[in-house]
Amino acid sequence: MTSTAETGTRLQKYRLKKWISPTAKPMSKYSSGNYSNQQVRRRGTNVTDRESVRWGILGTANIALKKVVPAMLRSRLSRVVAIASRDEARAQSAASSLGIPRAYGSYEALLADPSVDAIYNPLPNHLHVPWSIRAAQAGKHVLCEKPIALSANEARELLVVRDRTGVQIGEAFMVRTHPQWHEVRRLIANRRVGDLRLVSGHFSYYRRDPSDIRSQVEFGGGALMDIGCYPIMLSRWIFGAEPIEVIADLERDPEFGVDRLTSVMMRFPSGQATFTAAGQLAPYQKMHMFGTAGRIEVDRPFNPSPDFPAHVIVDDGRVETIDIPPVDQFMLQADRFSEAILGTGTVPATLEDAIANMEVIDALVRSAESRRWGAVPSAAPRAAAPR
Ligand SMILES: NC(=O)c1ccc[n+]([C@@H]2O[C@H](COP(=O)([O-])OP(=O)(O)OC[C@H]3O[C@@H](n4cnc5c(N)ncnc54)[C@H](OP(=O)(O)O)[C@@H]3O)[C@@H](O)[C@H]2O)c1
Repeated sequence: MTSTAETGTRLQKYRLKKWISPTAKPMSKYSSGNYSNQQVRRRGTNVTDRESVRWGILGTANIALKKVVPAMLRSRLSRVVAIASRDEARAQSAASSLGIPRAYGSYEALLADPSVDAIYNPLPNHLHVPWSIRAAQAGKHVLCEKPIALSANEARELLVVRDRTGVQIGEAFMVRTHPQWHEVRRLIANRRVGDLRLVSGHFSYYRRDPSDIRSQVEFGGGALMDIGCYPIMLSRWIFGAEPIEVIADLERDPEFGVDRLTSVMMRFPSGQATFTAAGQLAPYQKMHMFGTAGRIEVDRPFNPSPDFPAHVIVDDGRVETIDIPPVDQFMLQADRFSEAILGTGTVPATLEDAIANMEVIDALVRSAESRRWGAVPSAAPRAAAPR
């Protein structure tokens, strides 16, 4: 275990590298996200329009109300100025409980609000591209939930609009901003485990609710889309390459038709990645990276607590647990994306990367249908290397 002093030094190091925004407040009791906009503003921040991004929220999704908006309220680079729902009363209720100044009874009204700079899109998966396109056409930057689309081809439609409108568009893969993954990449780059040969992951939960968006085939439901997208993205990021070919077995819920137990193998140029994603299985998450000289384990790879240290375990003959100081990855995501809009940073999970991830998901579905290995078509032109 690292000592407290070492941990403090490590935090400084992360701040210097901007993995944690220098503007972020230290984690405290309000990291749980139960504070309203007004409460947070009263804590002495002095935000002007030129220093922060004015966000509008599309819909009253759970992830928005419980994680992303509270995290934006803690980010000095973000202000949440409006929220919309298909139901005006729902919008008003969410606005008053979170302290958001304006509530709209339609998504169109939110996009017409000239005081909104950027839209957070946490709609069901089949509405990601259509509403992100409409937001971009209204001149708004867009942070869109994962997975970005129903297919790579659909995601490319968004790329065309982004390039035409010049707005920033990113995928809300909050794990990309968590310092634990930057630590893993640093360890691998420093050859701490020798040659990286295998990335292995597991992500599961149990939820069988017919009304859940994840239970609807036409909404892009199922485990592969909902959570399999994480180990795919992380394997690609860690190998720094696209898989050449993939194979998957998808077991579908007999009533809902969405995949509920999906196991995958991906062949990369320098190794393999495997994972299981499941929506009707005991909850568990873990990622392992195996090299020729050791292994790295990420204890809580996808949603580490914002209130406790995250742990990266390295075993190269000697077992070391690296404590990563508590951070709210949703707040880091808001900071990073706001920096990209303000011109002081770059989008942490780019649309090009999102399209490449969708290429893999498409190939996995084709493989499961054909019962064969399938090639992954070359990815769309890639953006600058991820930070
Ligand atoms: N990054 C993460 O950690 C994370 C975690 C969970 C989910 N997500 C992603 O976030 C998105 C939302 O997930 P969620 O579980 O938060 O969803 P949810 O609670 O079901 O919310 C979806 C929202 O979309 C709006 N909506 C518009 N048309 C809809 C329709 N036909 N059916 C249902 N809702 C509709 C609704 O808002 P109004 O009724 O107010 O208009 C609803 O509140 C998904 O893309 C998911 O993959 C990400």
